[in-house]
Amino acid sequence: MEFLHENLPFLCDYWPFILTGAVCLMAAIVLFKTALEPPVDESLPPEPDLLDELDELESMEDDSNPDVVPALPADIKHIPFQFSRFPIEDSQKRSQEFYDLMNKRRTVRFFSPDPVPKEIIYNIIRTAGTAPSGAHTEPWTYVVISDPDIKAKVREIVEQEEKINYDRRMGPQWVADLKPIKTDWVKEYLTTAPYLILVFKQVYGISENGERRTHYYNEMSVAIAAGILLTAIHNAGLVSLTSTPLNCGPGLRVLLGRPKNEKLTLLLPVGYPAEDATVPDLPRKPLEEIMVEI
Ligand SMILES: Cc1cc2nc3c(=O)[nH]c(=O)nc-3n(C[C@H](O)[C@H](O)[C@H](O)COP(=O)(O)O)c2cc1C
Repeated sequence: MEFLHENLPFLCDYWPFILTGAVCLMAAIVLFKTALEPPVDESLPPEPDLLDELDELESMEDDSNPDVVPALPADIKHIPFQFSRFPIEDSQKRSQEFYDLMNKRRTVRFFSPDPVPKEIIYNIIRTAGTAPSGAHTEPWTYVVISDPDIKAKVREIVEQEEKINYDRRMGPQWVADLKPIKTDWVKEYLTTAPYLILVFKQVYGISENGERRTHYYNEMSVAIAAGILLTAIHNAGLVSLTSTPLNCGPGLRVLLGRPKNEKLTLLLPVGYPAEDATVPDLPRKPLEEIMVEI
C-alpha cells in the first residue's frame, strides 16, 4: 500500500471515481452498440427456411413423454388395405385417358350464370377432402358461397384491393406479365359464377379442450388438396379460375365469419363457361422439359 501511495498517489486517492468512470464507459459502449443494431420486428414471420425447419422439428417431436397425448386415438385400428390391381394394359389406358382429360383443363375467366346442382359441389369438396395431410390433421375449410348478396360483398372487397394491387402493390413487371392473360382488377366472374369456393388453411387446430394443435405442413397439405379440388371440378365438367387475391384474406375471413386460425389461400369461382369464353393459347412444357430421369 505504501509503495502504491508513493508511486501512484492519484490512483490511490481517486480509485472509486476511476472505477465508476470505467463502468459507466463500458455501459455506454454496450448501449451504443445495441442502438446501432436493427430492431427485431416481432410482427414479421420467421424466414421461410426457419419455418420449414420448425415444421420439421415439430414433426419429429419426441413422443416418448407419457404426458404427450396424440391427436388421433392412440389405439387406432389398423385394417387391411383394400386394393385391386389393374392389368398393366388397363393402367396404361387409364393413365393416357386421365392425362387427355386433365390436359383439357383451363383457367376460365368468363362464366355463365347457369345453375349447377349443389350435390355436384358437395362431391367435389368431398373429393378434395380425400387429400393426404401432415399427420392426418386435415387442415382445410372450404367455404361455398351461392348467396348473391354475399358474392357481391366478396366482389366489392376483392375489387377494392385488386385496384390498389394493380395500381401500386404489384409493380410494372408483374402487371406486364399479366397483360397477355388479359386479367385486371375488375372481377365480374365473382358475381356471375353460381358458386365461389374459398379455400382456407387452418394454420393450427383447436382440440376439444381448447388447446392449440400443430397442423404440420398445413401449407403443403392444403396445396395438394387444392390440386385435387381443381381436378374434381374439371372431372365434373365444370370450370374454375385459380385466384389468390392479394391482401383480401383478412377482409374475406371476417366477412365469412371464419376463425383466426384460418387463412385464405385460394378463391375459386366455379360453374360453366360463358358461351363466348376465350382462353389464352398457352403452350405447356413437354415431358422432357419437366422431368429428369436418373
Ligand atoms: C397460385 C395461382 C394463382 C393464380 N392467380 C390468378 C389470378 O389472380 N387471376 C387470374 O386470372 N389467374 C390466376 N391464376 C391462373 C393462371 O394465370 C393460369 O393457371 C395460367 O395462366 C395457366 O393457364 P391454365 O390454368 O389455363 O393452364 C393463378 C394460378 C395459380 C396456380
